[in-house]
Amino acid sequence: MPASRFPNLFVLDHPLILHKLSIVRDARTPSPDFRRLLGEIAALMAFETCRHLPTAPVVVKTPLGEASGARIAAPVTLVPILRAGIGMTDGLLSLLPEARVGHLGIYRDEETVQPVCYYSKVPTDIAAGPVFLIDPMLATGGSASFAAGELKKLGCATIRMICLVAAPPGVERMLADHPDVPVHAAALDDRLDERSYIVPGLGDAGDRIFGTR
Ligand code: PRP
Ligand code: URA
Repeated sequence: MPASRFPNLFVLDHPLILHKLSIVRDARTPSPDFRRLLGEIAALMAFETCRHLPTAPVVVKTPLGEASGARIAAPVTLVPILRAGIGMTDGLLSLLPEARVGHLGIYRDEETVQPVCYYSKVPTDIAAGPVFLIDPMLATGGSASFAAGELKKLGCATIRMICLVAAPPGVERMLADHPDVPVHAAALDDRLDERSYIVPGLGDAGDRIFGTR
């Protein structure tokens, strides 16, 4: 269901996700647990967001006869925004093992909070199927909006964003810049602080995943 304030936002408030997210948010949770839980939440989120993947009918021969079934119709590409998006990628791949993985390296300039892109490597035929844009944090939305714009320049027509924690300015920015890109989040938080960090959030996702601070 879309959250009432934002038609582009879908909050996945499954009890298992809420339980794991509470531990992830806890400032005392060490990096190994943070990483493991982030991956588990990503897998749970994949289950729900993959509901929208187009399928094509197939008939398979079982040992006893023929069964009608369905296969995912087009190649799926996961695009994590480096660094923190890497923390969700393996969880998504656990349910989508055939997915290809493209990478967009983007960081926020600490002074201006504007996205700086330093790396891009995606499948050449990325536009042939749906794309999941992955980043645990949607704060101002600058990074996600830039990333979605780059994917559209490559011809991607079906993009969904999967994040862990979204803040209202980020969701608004995505709605304004990319109203065709649904945002799936585990939580919609209150606000941004003066440094544009999400409050209450979980701190710096990249640092907590990789133990860099
Ligand atoms: C974080 C996060 C997002 C971005 C969100 O990355 O992983 O990419 O900030 O903020 P925004 O919505 O205001 O753009 P960060 O810049 O810390 O880079 P890192 O993952 O390399 O540490
Ligand atoms: N990036 C993070 O890692 N955390 C925030 O709260 C905002 C941006």
